[in-house]
Amino acid sequence: MNTEMLDKVRHEVNGRLDQKNKSKLGQFMTASVIADYMASLFDKNTKNAKILDCGAGIGSLSISAIKALKKVALVDQWEIDPIMQEQLEKNMKMVGVNFSIYRQDFIFGAVENIRSGTGERYTHAIINPPYKKISSSSAHRQELRKVGIETVNLYSAFFALSIFLMEKGGQIVIIIPRSFCNGPYYKPFREMMLNECSIEHIHVFESRDKAFKDDDVLQENIILKVTKGKKQDEVEISQSTDHEFHDYQTKKVAFADVVKPNDSEVFIHIPTGEEVNENNPLFAASLSELGISVSTGPVVSHRMTEFLEKDLTDDSVPLLYPHHFVNRQFQYPKEHKKPNAIRVAPESRKWLMPNSGFYVIVRRFSAKEEKRRVVAYVINPEEIGREWIGFDNCWNVFHVKKKGFDERTAKGLACFLNSTLLDDYFRVFSGHTQVNATDLKNMKYPTLETMQRVGESYQFSMEQKQIDQLLGVVNEFGTKITTSC
Ligand SMILES: C[S@@+](CC[C@H](N)C(=O)[O-])C[C@H]1O[C@@H](n2cnc3c(N)ncnc32)[C@H](O)[C@@H]1O
Repeated sequence: MNTEMLDKVRHEVNGRLDQKNKSKLGQFMTASVIADYMASLFDKNTKNAKILDCGAGIGSLSISAIKALKKVALVDQWEIDPIMQEQLEKNMKMVGVNFSIYRQDFIFGAVENIRSGTGERYTHAIINPPYKKISSSSAHRQELRKVGIETVNLYSAFFALSIFLMEKGGQIVIIIPRSFCNGPYYKPFREMMLNECSIEHIHVFESRDKAFKDDDVLQENIILKVTKGKKQDEVEISQSTDHEFHDYQTKKVAFADVVKPNDSEVFIHIPTGEEVNENNPLFAASLSELGISVSTGPVVSHRMTEFLEKDLTDDSVPLLYPHHFVNRQFQYPKEHKKPNAIRVAPESRKWLMPNSGFYVIVRRFSAKEEKRRVVAYVINPEEIGREWIGFDNCWNVFHVKKKGFDERTAKGLACFLNSTLLDDYFRVFSGHTQVNATDLKNMKYPTLETMQRVGESYQFSMEQKQIDQLLGVVNEFGTKITTSC
């Protein structure tokens, strides 16, 4: 079956799928051009390949793998949806290989095979798994625990089970969301994967919306190739703007640039393009060395509705949201559907922070129109004018022992967080558009001295170029600067 025909069938089946199942079963099918690229990452000289394709859909990935590998002994496919199964069978019959379709839930089937030591073990797996969170008490999570897998999404569950089902030297090529690279809940999965496999290749799409453009998937996806039981060597990193691969670029990097030695979070960094040199003196100190902490804003508004006030009253204090900032300037109060204030009461007090010193806050979710991932603001206690402040849960809040800190450090920290250097650095290790407190905790920062020098000159009205110049000048000369950049 040629790729044009397969893509036509894919569109046709996509139209027939039950819309409710589409998100429940994570049914976003791979275009042939991506499937072919994924298959091209397999080492070619394998004889008698035994291929696993779990969540096989209409079989696009298997078909690309069969074309690329040529000498194929068998293909095992798991697919739960009857509409997909029917088309899968038709497609596989046309290809003419030895195939088996398991019309059942892969998680239950794989766990059973792993526990009983039955079923096939594979030399190759090519996977676009379903993406869906699995709650801690779900049947899937309980099943996964039987083989020691603790993970939060169907995609990492499929990946983990496939690792267990590979022969030594078996290669897995998978397309998955980048969020597992540094999501805090994926740490056990990252540890397991890195214990069992070496990372051979990571491909990133620069444009977030292109890999599954038929389905408006805005997820940032990466393609990963890992080999079970192989000693870790350099990692190939490739990128292209989109699934057309027109501007494909590739290079090799040391594994230590991907997973930093001694990183207790085992983050997977993807160093593409402009490398941010961590030897840069601006990345000198950990947050704990600076005595600063960062936490998610404590006020979860929807759980505290009885304390929320449209406007500030005598017994309430400001509750801050992103709409209170325009062009980095504080604008409070604001006419908006969200409240401006939170009432201070014994029950709400523990969610408020004292208005002592300056806080630096960073949005957890970047605005659509914002090009940057990290956007930081400084809260000046005089502008708050009350004893307490409410920070909504959509913020990350930098504090010192749950209080604000001095103005110069706060402004210097905000300047650093708002620099291009930091944004580039952040992109290397963070795939999601979300900025987690854990991410901010695990980064390096300038020394207090540098931050304070920068803070002397930082103004919220500065353009990006001025911010970058200010940091650059202080960094280069290590002196107080008075120029108006
Ligand atoms: C992201 S789609 C990918 C389909 C196909 N691999 C492709 O790349 O076009 C995931 C597929 O997994 C199937 N699926 C979802 N949950 C499953 C489960 N628990 N067991 C087996 N298949 C499942 C869905 O029906 C869907 O066809």
